[in-house]
Amino acid sequence: MIENIDDFIPTILYVEDEEGIRVELTRFFKRYTDKLYIATNGEEGLDMYKKYKPDIIISDINMPLMTGIEMAKIIKKIDPKQHIIFTTAYNDSSYMLEAIELDIDGYVLKPVDYDKLEYKLNSILDHFKQKLELQQYQQKLEERVKEEVDKNKEQEFILFEQSTLAQMGEMINMIAHQWRQPLGVISTIASSLSLKHSLGRLECSSVDQSCHTIVETTQAMSQTINDFMNFNKKDSNKQVFLHKTIENVREIIGAEFESIGIELDVNIDKELSVYHNATHIKHTLLNILINARDALIENSIDNMLINMYVIEDENLLTLVIKDNAGGIPKEIIDRVFESYFTTKKEGKGTGIGLYMSKKMITSIPDSYIDVDIEEGCTLFKLKFKKSA
Ligand SMILES: Nc1ncnc2c1ncn2[C@@H]1O[C@H](COP(=O)(O)OP(=O)(O)OP(=O)(O)O)[C@@H](O)[C@H]1O
Ligand SMILES: [Mg+2]
Repeated sequence: MIENIDDFIPTILYVEDEEGIRVELTRFFKRYTDKLYIATNGEEGLDMYKKYKPDIIISDINMPLMTGIEMAKIIKKIDPKQHIIFTTAYNDSSYMLEAIELDIDGYVLKPVDYDKLEYKLNSILDHFKQKLELQQYQQKLEERVKEEVDKNKEQEFILFEQSTLAQMGEMINMIAHQWRQPLGVISTIASSLSLKHSLGRLECSSVDQSCHTIVETTQAMSQTINDFMNFNKKDSNKQVFLHKTIENVREIIGAEFESIGIELDVNIDKELSVYHNATHIKHTLLNILINARDALIENSIDNMLINMYVIEDENLLTLVIKDNAGGIPKEIIDRVFESYFTTKKEGKGTGIGLYMSKKMITSIPDSYIDVDIEEGCTLFKLKFKKSA
């Protein structure tokens, strides 16, 4: 692609059998280009056209072996847009009708009027320059679009990383929560064994019983780690059972929600399934439930309740997550899916959770996420196409 349009130099093919005219016009064309090819009849002209694909052809009409018209007919079949100018004598006028039908760029009578020829050449060159200008403009536009798309992708990636980090933070808190109780059990058993030993009252049966409890407790702790590992496993799109997916989320948040006093009421048929990505649904549910938890605590609700149920119609399954935390205020409900929109204190929320949730849910056709408020409750609705 030429950087500067004024640097454009056309390739010209000049076809003329009369030597005198040929020498004279060659000198003239050299003012326009150093990429000039000369042929002395139509046949030679056609060969050179095929070889050099010139931008402009200037040709005599009446020539031996093949006339200019015959040559132009073949060339126009190959490339109907080829620029051709004929130089003609008065007695060639019988050919002119044919030439017009070929849709050529014009003709110049012999003896050649240089001003007229220059005018015709310049108008063809202007056409080339306009075409080039358009191409350059288009290329710049494409580059701009690509730059913006790349920037967007990078931004998305950063958002995704931030969102994952924020959720990891929450999950680590929850592991800590789930481990607190079994750690307490192990610590109590160890203290009691040590005390009995120092008092000389340690019996074999009690050592056995204590070891058994410690093994069981550590196995449960290890299961917690497995649950967390599985939770973050990358998954592909496939049949996802909603009840099982929700149970996976409950394994993570259950202990903490219970300790705060949040009741999680799940009323979903075990057989219900959708075609989606299980990890994406789990992360979305985790974010919605953590948002509900935060709102329930913030608004000091007495009987904290989260209901999860499914509404079925012919094609769609709608999974509803309903909390009684007071409802998202009307003034902000339209903004909750925007990136970086948060009402939480600094360090508490980044405002990416629902933005990423929407991305994840809607990444599969016919899947949606909506939010509604109803009598002091927020209802998040995940809509999926029923799996076949
Ligand atoms: N159940 C809800 N009740 C009340 N407000 C809610 C509820 N769910 C979401 N919101 C509002 O929507 C905002 C955006 O939620 P979102 O999950 O996108 O971000 P966040 O929770 O603030 O931060 P992050 O999830 O990135 O840690 C919240 O800050 C809160 O104001
Ligand atoms: Mg959130």
